[in-house]
Amino acid sequence: MERINKPDLNIARKRTKYEVETTVYEDAKNIKDIGKNKKYMIQTHGCQANEADTEVIRGLLEGQGFLPTTVLEECDLIIINTCAIRENAENKVFGELGRLKSYKRINPNLIIAVAGCMPQEEDVVERIMKKYPHVDLVFGTHNIDKIIEYIDYVMKEHKQLIEVYSKQGDIVEHLPQVRENRFKAWVNIMFGCDEFCTYCIVPYTRGRERSRQKQYIIEEIQKLIEQGYKEITLLGQNVNSYGLDFVDEKYDFADLLDDLAKLDIPRIKFTTSHPKDFSDKLIDVIAKYDNIMPFIHLPVQSGSNSVLKKMNRKYTKEQYLNLVERIYNKIPNVSLTTDIIVAFPGETNEDFLETLDLVDKSKFEGAYTFIYSPRKGTPAASYKNDITPEEAKQRLYKLNELVNEGYLRGNKRFENKTVKVLVEGFSKTNETMLSGYTENNKLVNFEGDESLIGQIIEVYVEKAKTWSLDGRVVR
Ligand code: 5AD
Ligand code: SF4
Repeated sequence: MERINKPDLNIARKRTKYEVETTVYEDAKNIKDIGKNKKYMIQTHGCQANEADTEVIRGLLEGQGFLPTTVLEECDLIIINTCAIRENAENKVFGELGRLKSYKRINPNLIIAVAGCMPQEEDVVERIMKKYPHVDLVFGTHNIDKIIEYIDYVMKEHKQLIEVYSKQGDIVEHLPQVRENRFKAWVNIMFGCDEFCTYCIVPYTRGRERSRQKQYIIEEIQKLIEQGYKEITLLGQNVNSYGLDFVDEKYDFADLLDDLAKLDIPRIKFTTSHPKDFSDKLIDVIAKYDNIMPFIHLPVQSGSNSVLKKMNRKYTKEQYLNLVERIYNKIPNVSLTTDIIVAFPGETNEDFLETLDLVDKSKFEGAYTFIYSPRKGTPAASYKNDITPEEAKQRLYKLNELVNEGYLRGNKRFENKTVKVLVEGFSKTNETMLSGYTENNKLVNFEGDESLIGQIIEVYVEKAKTWSLDGRVVR
């Protein structure tokens, strides 16, 4: 029996209103211990949504006895959890798939799987079928809960299995998870995106916006508190539209955050916010609670009204700056960061200067900056684009210079001050030092005893650099 079910962007684009159903995960029937004496590795690309998905995949695999490894030669199963947001992310995955082929000579039973956002694209699946026959399993973002059944099929039938749903499923609760970090946890509050910014593939790869019911979110966070977690990051492509899909309940993101902040969790943050839905009610909730971190990631994408319109962002530069001002007024200590795309089709030099002006006025303390990358199937992919790659790189370079000044300025604010740090472990760049993040999400390095790991402690900041702070533990 062949199992090939390819994606369809036309179906993925559709938004039909229906009430989202929540089901509870049940173990795959009649499949037991298929991972016994077997080892797996997952390579995760892209955003936190993928990192959170990887933790579910790990939970499902380890429930069947699979053990994690970091050694490719030992693997019985390799999963690449992919990102589709820009072309270079995809090229990396194809490169990696080519390299992985040789490991099948070491272990002929090795299963190679491609998961995540790339399988949701028609072209990608065609290319894998034509050029990468050594890929055994391809599945998308809507059917992660079925992975055990798929692996069982591939192990028994020795055939390629491609199963991608283009119409999003409902919400599956109580999926097992093996979390990467012991103190900081991701908690999805919603899935999908209905914004359809014209450059973006996410509404196609992650489907319609679906909010998790509040009781499941609270239940998950309460368990994390019991396990000693100190920081929760609430996840959604646009957390500000949380709850808009509820049929007979009026309960929005500000309400949810207000309820969650009352739980006994030292730190809560959230990502990502869409500026158009960022309400004053939400600003008030953030200002009200000490355990909501004064850190907001607020993607602006461009400072030019004409580009924002072509991007379908639904706000103007002036509205964005007004929102930023309201946030600074109510939460004076806040650190704002953003995402910016340069060289969107039709962006003139004047448009770009508007972006620089907005960055300057917004006093961002960090930004992810990108050169526009056309994504097949999105509206902007057919817009005329005559910006040369050299010009695009020049703009990115200029923007980054300004953005980096913001990183340093943001860090300098804390020089000669005492900050609270969640100690995560030894520094990645210097193993004799500890490191962790402040409430404003600033990285701090300091000397200290291993026993501090996992605690929130006070650190005096002696020096601010562009990318980190140097401090010493306050006795
Ligand atoms: N090209 C470049 N950057 C993109 N982003 C999303 N789609 C594209 C694209 N096609 C950026 C946006 C978004 C971030 C996650 O990735 O800035 O906020
Ligand atoms: Fe993409 Fe826009 Fe949705 Fe963000 S809000 S995921 S940029 S479509």
